[in-house]
Amino acid sequence: MSFYVTTPIYYVNAAPHLGHAYTTIAADVMARHHRQRGESVFFLTGTDEHGEPVADAAHALGIEPQELADRNAERFKALAPRLGASNDFFIRTTDPQHEAVVQEVLGRVRENGFVYEGTYEGWYCPRCADFKADNEIDEGNRCPIHHIELTREQEDNYFFKLSAFQQRLEQLYEEHAEFVSPRSRYNEALSFIRSGLRDVPLTRHKLRWGVPVPWDREHVFYVWFDALLNYYSALSYAGAEDRTQELWPASYHLIGKDILRFHTVYWPALLMAAEIELPQHVFVHGFLLMDGEKMSKSLGNVLDPFEVIDRFGADALRFYLLREVPFGQDGSVSTASFELRYEGELANDLGNLASRSIGMLTRYRAGAVSAGDMDAELAADFGGLRERVAAHVDRAELHLALEEIWQLVRRLNRYVEEQAPWQLAKDEQQGERLDCVLRTLIEGLRVVTVLLWPYLPASAERLLDALGAPALALAGAELGAGSIASVQPIDPLFPKDV
Ligand code: MSP
Repeated sequence: MSFYVTTPIYYVNAAPHLGHAYTTIAADVMARHHRQRGESVFFLTGTDEHGEPVADAAHALGIEPQELADRNAERFKALAPRLGASNDFFIRTTDPQHEAVVQEVLGRVRENGFVYEGTYEGWYCPRCADFKADNEIDEGNRCPIHHIELTREQEDNYFFKLSAFQQRLEQLYEEHAEFVSPRSRYNEALSFIRSGLRDVPLTRHKLRWGVPVPWDREHVFYVWFDALLNYYSALSYAGAEDRTQELWPASYHLIGKDILRFHTVYWPALLMAAEIELPQHVFVHGFLLMDGEKMSKSLGNVLDPFEVIDRFGADALRFYLLREVPFGQDGSVSTASFELRYEGELANDLGNLASRSIGMLTRYRAGAVSAGDMDAELAADFGGLRERVAAHVDRAELHLALEEIWQLVRRLNRYVEEQAPWQLAKDEQQGERLDCVLRTLIEGLRVVTVLLWPYLPASAERLLDALGAPALALAGAELGAGSIASVQPIDPLFPKDV
């Protein structure tokens, strides 16, 4: 079994912000979960370096696009490990190997008869690098996303015959309802297709910053077709050997809702035109909002992920984003709600559970865990948990998977209150009962920690080490499957005084 997950590749026109961190974290949770299942996982992220978004930003700074790309690609590359992201490769669209694949595949699209010369006239947003249809324009000819004035473009281009794929795309959506999720996004994509597809520019004549078109050196490829192909090209050169056979088609493309049309309409059509198999799923998440607006560098309303990580650690940020905002919907984020989740859930629910459980075992049993059965009541509560979590992750319902696990974190806290081990410890007759309670508690803690590892990798590893049970396989996330012999004291996982 292989599992291949991607993030969008990020424009290098500015530094990374929380919106970029969001998709990378979500993809990482999926990648780690599938590794726990023992699958052969490939997780790709990277940077999108051509086109106007980058050329214009470089021009404004008085430097060459390549220089800006080099500078900012480094910052995106550095963000991934700071987030705890375990990506297997970082692609840059200025990689010569990627450029060669773009030329080869788009050359094939032309040979297959889906490219012709024409003149484009219409509205264009240089920030989105997007040709806008008349019904996608805000008042005063403005971009609905960036709020800047659109430019009127007239240009001789080579066109991609998107309209030729109208029927095949409708059929794809009919036969594969799982191709796009959530359902509302599937409906949005399908209604765009049904409204009638128009051909789109495949090349740009006016722009120099892009992958040269091999059959006409006056043109470069339109940045979106160059960018989309990263998902395919990376597999051919990320490792010592070409891994395309093994890993293509992609299991999941995770994207933000702003780039839905490119991924759910242009991308499958392009692959059909090149006779390449289609990805299995495109999952579309919402925007992180601050003060009701999309968080973005150009709007200036950003929460700096580096600052949050410096103070609270990457795990806290990962947890917060996937707990606060239902994955697939828009959601507001703020420092106030971050601090509430950190204190109430990470420090209190989980952190206290861990230190209490280890503390009581240390106090009453010198850290040793006795062998024996689990408390039947708790065993019932844990029944089916692993399967429910896996089923949610299969559908990219990352907040629901997390909620399933958190229910059990809370259940374990209630168990401590109900059983009151400090009372049992006072009564010698209750020695066996106390052993059973402590054993069940620590084993339950191990199970939730294994399941939480994709969300909280560093903290989970620390905790599992303290339990002397470092195994991460999902198969072991069953109450009673572990064999904890003794535990070690641990510093607070989520200290409050940071
Ligand atoms: N380069 C293109 C993508 C090409 S993929 C073949 C691009 N880059 S981007 O840097 O502008 O944005 C990429 C992604 O960042 C968005 O789709 C989304 O996944 C994420 N986000 C950027 N701002 C965001 C929020 N405020 N909230 C959530 N995610 C957003 O588009």
